[in-house]
Amino acid sequence: MIIQDNISLRHYNTFGIEAKARHYTEVYSTSELQEVLQQWKGGAPFILGGGSNILLTGDLGRLVVRNCIKGREIVRKENGKAWVAAGGGENWHDFVLWCLENELGGIENLSLIPGTVGAAPIQNIGAYGVELRDVFHSLEAVELSSGMEHAFGREACRFGYRESIFKGPLKGQYCITRVMVELTTGPHHLNTSYGAIRETLENWNIKEPTIQDVSRAVTAIRSSKLPDPAVLGNSGSFFKNPEIPLIQFEALQARFPNIIHYPAGEGLIKVPAGWLIEQCGWKGQRIGDAGCYEKQALVLVNYGTASGPEVLELAQQIVDSVEQKFGIRLAPEVNVV
Ligand code: EPU
Repeated sequence: MIIQDNISLRHYNTFGIEAKARHYTEVYSTSELQEVLQQWKGGAPFILGGGSNILLTGDLGRLVVRNCIKGREIVRKENGKAWVAAGGGENWHDFVLWCLENELGGIENLSLIPGTVGAAPIQNIGAYGVELRDVFHSLEAVELSSGMEHAFGREACRFGYRESIFKGPLKGQYCITRVMVELTTGPHHLNTSYGAIRETLENWNIKEPTIQDVSRAVTAIRSSKLPDPAVLGNSGSFFKNPEIPLIQFEALQARFPNIIHYPAGEGLIKVPAGWLIEQCGWKGQRIGDAGCYEKQALVLVNYGTASGPEVLELAQQIVDSVEQKFGIRLAPEVNVV
């Protein structure tokens, strides 16, 4: 076990925020993680994945453990289905590409999402009509307090919109070491209902898309709207899209007839936070080096040396102005640490 002191986390969070870990280590296997947990006596560690869904607001006085547990495996194939597992430290997009190379379908719509496989279930990653829970089978995780390995099935994970038990009651208590998904070997069920995917495929003149085509379309759409963290620091959508009661929505629609909305089930309407933020005039604005992205108002960006508190201050001003104009209080989607 090699533990380093005072390590900068700037390159370990996609926002590119400067913050230090008082102690830092990396683990490459479950047993290595268990060894660290057994030997470390300095309090509960903080598990870091790809750092693509966190906003660091200060130095971390705890031990930061970066999950680098790798491995990809087709566990079983049967009746057009494949059960596929990957280590928690695998890069999510690399895993998607590997599945596509192996002609496995189901996660092509989740192409190019930054972060790791182990982080994917924590916030039930989703995009373009598909969420991780749609293909999720099970996961293995190590309890940080005991070092014990536990398995979680789909029910146990309590998935919701960008939610799971690991963001709620079990927050900070587990390290996800392995995730298994249930994919198709063919024929595949394509999810191309999302307008932008359909338009992109039409523009490319693709009449009978493959899973690889869908992945390429998603990649093109994401690249055109979302900033590449390697170029401009960000954590994807900073806020969740709010779901409001139908009655509240109807009152809003009377005042703002152009309001964009989707049914969210059981008398609820989902309103895109990006639209609300844009209507408040924030799109393309910046305070110092913290900014609201010019092509997607839901994404906050770091133009260079923004600090965590500076990004948080911008977020707070956005929350306040959306609440003032629309009476809706936005909740963050990223994990503020
Ligand atoms: N919109 C605006 N102005 C903006 C941004 C969006 O008017 O500045 C409008 C768009 O025109 C569109 C609607 O809002 O009509 C929705 O926009 P978009 O399709 O870009 O998706 P989103 O709701 O902003 C969500 C996810 C994304 C995911 C996309 C595509 C959340 C919080 N975000 O964004 O996920 O990629 O849908 O499925 O649910 C993430 O979670 O980090 C993320 C990037």
